[in-house]
Amino acid sequence: MSLLHDRLAPRIVEEDGSFRTRMLGISAGMKDVIALGRGDPDFHTPAHIVQAAKDALDANQHHYTGPTGLPPLRAAIAADMKKYHGLDYTPDEIVVTAGAQEAIMLTMLGLCAPGDEILITSPRFTTYDTAAHLCGGVPVPVPTFEKDDFALDPAEIETRITPRSRMFVLTSPNNPTGAVTPPAAIRAIAELAVRHDILIIADEIYARMIYAPNEHLSIATLPGMKERTITLGGVSKTYAMTGWRLGWLAGPADFVAKVTEPRHTLSINACTISQFAALAALTGPQEPIEAMIADYKARRDWLMPALDRLGFTYGHPGGAFYIYTNVSSSGLPAPEFCERLLRETGVMLFPGTMFGDTSTDYIRISYLQPLPVIEEAVRRIEGFLKRTRAAA
Ligand SMILES: Cc1ncc(COP(=O)(O)O)c(C=O)c1O
Repeated sequence: MSLLHDRLAPRIVEEDGSFRTRMLGISAGMKDVIALGRGDPDFHTPAHIVQAAKDALDANQHHYTGPTGLPPLRAAIAADMKKYHGLDYTPDEIVVTAGAQEAIMLTMLGLCAPGDEILITSPRFTTYDTAAHLCGGVPVPVPTFEKDDFALDPAEIETRITPRSRMFVLTSPNNPTGAVTPPAAIRAIAELAVRHDILIIADEIYARMIYAPNEHLSIATLPGMKERTITLGGVSKTYAMTGWRLGWLAGPADFVAKVTEPRHTLSINACTISQFAALAALTGPQEPIEAMIADYKARRDWLMPALDRLGFTYGHPGGAFYIYTNVSSSGLPAPEFCERLLRETGVMLFPGTMFGDTSTDYIRISYLQPLPVIEEAVRRIEGFLKRTRAAA
């Protein structure tokens, strides 16, 4: 142990990233890997967005911006939230951040005090756990189940509410399940949030990716909810812009004014060039985005019957680009399934245990490869299953 390791502050919790590191280490030494693990679109950022960044550089637009972001970008984010989700935010209610990831941390810094319980839709994007831990908070998973296609049941929230409950993290569509919380459940959550005086973090990073007949309802559009909700979003997923690091949070102007100082402390401002790119993304043509979403849907529609043929069950995903798949029929616990599948076939998938799942039945498939590559991945999984089941 180094001296610095010995002196780590108590807020630094032991996050176990060893499984992910091992998987990435194994895949780095292999040829012909099919990566269906990370939530990073295979599409490239559309050309007009990349061009806007180049133009910004040529115009010497590479200085600091104000800590909450470029005014035209904040106006474009407000217009986007209104157009697609009916949300009423003004530019001074928006903070542009380095990805939704920084918006999550900033929200926790702003709202989570030591001992606060943070209820989180689960299985989950575990950044919420880490951000809560760093603020002294206690993550409280709210489970969802395959039998419900992993749709959230408001009763599961209510039974976990205690006098320490401070916030509920509503991620819809959810990562890793792709589950969309139905509008009726969103209304029930709003009602219980008011009744128990719970704040809401509405993570809407996947909210443009909804497959009919599923519907997205932004909770902050409901009566009395805007004042107790922080809505998070970003361009990473919708516009295939993960590496640009550009997201946002939206909340009441006096809250935004108060978190501007910690926001300045974290990184002063989101990358200026990326802000110009995001402006082009939000205000430019949406056809490339619609084409990507249509492609994700085609992959999902192909993959579900293919999983049926493999003997795997799953929650029917209503959005995003994930299928949360039950691999218990393989006879292997999910972490072992994923590691052996990678070593023996080159297909990389992540186990549900990486998303806070206490069950070892599930894997997350990110369908972020072209369809012919996904077909090849399924052929490899089929061969792997035949060999494993024959050996059992
Ligand atoms: C639910 C959820 N929220 C936030 C993020 C962070 O996204 P960003 O790239 O904008 O930081 C992710 C990324 O996977 C996510 O799945």
